[in-house]
Amino acid sequence: MSTISVADRIIYQIYPKSFKDSDHDGIGDLKGITQKLAYLKELGINTIWLNPIYVSPQIDNGYDVADYYQIDEKLGTLADFDELVAKAHALGLEIILDFVLNHTSEKHPWFQAALHDKESEFRNCYLFHKGKDGGPPNNWGSFFGGSVWQQDPLDADNYYFHLFAKEMPDLNWAEPKVRVEMLKIAKFWLDHGVDGFRLDAFIHIAKADFEQDMLTSSDKPQIAEMFYANLPQVRTYLQEFISQLRQLKPDIFILGEAASADIDLAVDYTTPADKSCDTVVTFRYFAEDKSQVEPDLPQIGQPVKLDIPSFKYNMLEWQKRLEGVSYPTLYWSNHDMPRILSRFAPPKEHSACAKMLATLMYLQRGIPCIYYGEELGLMSQTLPTLKAFEDPQIIDFANKARAKGWSENEILESASQAHKMAARLPMPFDETAYQGFSTVEPWKYSKVLQKTNIAKQESDQKSPLNYYRQLLRLKHQELFIKGRFILENTSSKLYVYRRISKNKQALVICNLSADEQSYPCGDLTKVLLGQNAKVLGQKVQLASYGAIVLER
Ligand code: NOJ
Repeated sequence: MSTISVADRIIYQIYPKSFKDSDHDGIGDLKGITQKLAYLKELGINTIWLNPIYVSPQIDNGYDVADYYQIDEKLGTLADFDELVAKAHALGLEIILDFVLNHTSEKHPWFQAALHDKESEFRNCYLFHKGKDGGPPNNWGSFFGGSVWQQDPLDADNYYFHLFAKEMPDLNWAEPKVRVEMLKIAKFWLDHGVDGFRLDAFIHIAKADFEQDMLTSSDKPQIAEMFYANLPQVRTYLQEFISQLRQLKPDIFILGEAASADIDLAVDYTTPADKSCDTVVTFRYFAEDKSQVEPDLPQIGQPVKLDIPSFKYNMLEWQKRLEGVSYPTLYWSNHDMPRILSRFAPPKEHSACAKMLATLMYLQRGIPCIYYGEELGLMSQTLPTLKAFEDPQIIDFANKARAKGWSENEILESASQAHKMAARLPMPFDETAYQGFSTVEPWKYSKVLQKTNIAKQESDQKSPLNYYRQLLRLKHQELFIKGRFILENTSSKLYVYRRISKNKQALVICNLSADEQSYPCGDLTKVLLGQNAKVLGQKVQLASYGAIVLER
């Protein structure tokens, strides 16, 4: 039985290849994570989400799974995993695994069988379809660029569907064999002691009629979410899948990745009556301010700022509409986006911004989800080569930027501020070579080392790390878990909210700007936590990026 309720969860997301290398090959691994459990415990989290750890050709860093029952050899063994779970549990920490259910790797034995034999019993486990007018079945676009269709090597007028890379064929969830197998895999990992799953890209497991084109005047493939995201059938598959898991483990924790879900869908996916997801992650919080983007260059290589007024509106909507339904996830960064400080903080204000943003986000109603290294105020780093992005869309960006006169450095810097890959670099532990992540050059590396590390921050009482520790202690208080949430109507330079319970109240005031701000706090003058801010009578004075948490 889990001792952690949904509302009490504080998640720490680990990108295993970049957390800690224990066997000196430059790649983080499971034993490395086990070595650092005490650090995570002291931080104040209670749930660890691991990005995929299964056998994979690593076309998409583990999201292309070739064998769901084995650990990728670079990350360790099943015995290492069992040890990690046992030691985590002994510390009161729980482990949730990324569960990749929309697609497999092309190297998965099912797909290999389906690809090489038209009569294979596994052919219908994937989405093969006849072409149209000498081309693919329709004009739908893949999230990784180009068409969702790839030609079938056995038949030039036949194609298979891939929403992500062509090496990641989508599964056909209408085929019972697929649903049975996915359940079997999940049970296998439950037997190995996992406490829950993060369901990867689950909103895509149902697709519309392949004969329907997207309406467009362009001759290029078009992103067509209306045909492959959040279709009604998704809920049916999901409910069937999760309800069976809950029969085996009633308190299993399910975090659904619902990147494009709006609040209405979030309500649907987390409605308690369905016993489906406990919570979902949407990407919609982070409205983009594209005012500095060059319109004739691909956006993938250009950083975008946060559109603060829209961000506030979105947060408010998710906070209020999920009351009485479920708990929203609270996060700033993950492996699919640039680190938040790179999008937000001016060069000299990292530390203050890191603390202010954490205060703003995590004391709201919901489940904090902290991306490894965020507690140190890590930024995205500049990757040394275009190849390091592992993304053809970045090559396209670079070619177009070069034609406009950009230098190689400008291209690398811009792409590193904008691209997810620059947010997946090694965790810095200390001052030794490779910052204590490894003793050899890491698999992914920036020549510009992080300016900070855990050892440095441990000994600095004012560091982001020590601030996060205090903040997460506060978050475990009943008021910040169950209290009502009210967002004050302020200028976009401020983010101010109250958490209210029967006999307690807290006021959280955050300055999103570099300008001094002040805000009335009435008789809530006792400081629970803060930085760059002080109480003067019944007012709070906030210096640049200040934040403060008050009670009566
Ligand atoms: C969502 C994951 O977060 C992302 O990293 C991955 O590329 C896609 N799903 C495909 O699995």
